[in-house]
Amino acid sequence: MDKNVKMLDFTQRGDERGRLVVVEGMKDVPFDIKRIFYIYGSDKDVVRGQHANRRSEFVLINVAGHSKVKVMDGKGNEAVFTLNRPHTGIYLPNMVWKDMYDFSDDSVLLVLASEHYDASEYIRDYEEFVKEVNS
Ligand code: TYD
Repeated sequence: MDKNVKMLDFTQRGDERGRLVVVEGMKDVPFDIKRIFYIYGSDKDVVRGQHANRRSEFVLINVAGHSKVKVMDGKGNEAVFTLNRPHTGIYLPNMVWKDMYDFSDDSVLLVLASEHYDASEYIRDYEEFVKEVNS
């Protein structure tokens, strides 16, 4: 798999009992999963994220409800994606700026990460991000 932002469509293993989606590291996402976290209870007017990561790659999946993610590469390109299906995710490589917003009341945004948490690999200043990405 290449390292560009892209939507991932996971197989739904449905039967008469309901649906099941499997996400395996290095198979369904292009990294080994070292950490998961999930975001819920964010109001509609909240903007989360607002950072880039020097090392971490992520896959975001709205397992319930919906939200949007805006991705910026620091070189003038940006794109907005809607996450609204439990079987669809977005892959975000390292060194992209992301904002998550427009959370529905029932939104549960599951995040799979390639790294353990390390606050020092987060860039929380946009100007610093632009400087690093273009250096
Ligand atoms: P933050 O990175 O601001 O959340 P998001 O960007 O996803 O909206 O994280 C919120 C708080 O949680 C912050 O104090 C750092 C802490 N945190 C951890 O301790 N471990 C983690 O894996 C994450 C994602 C956050």
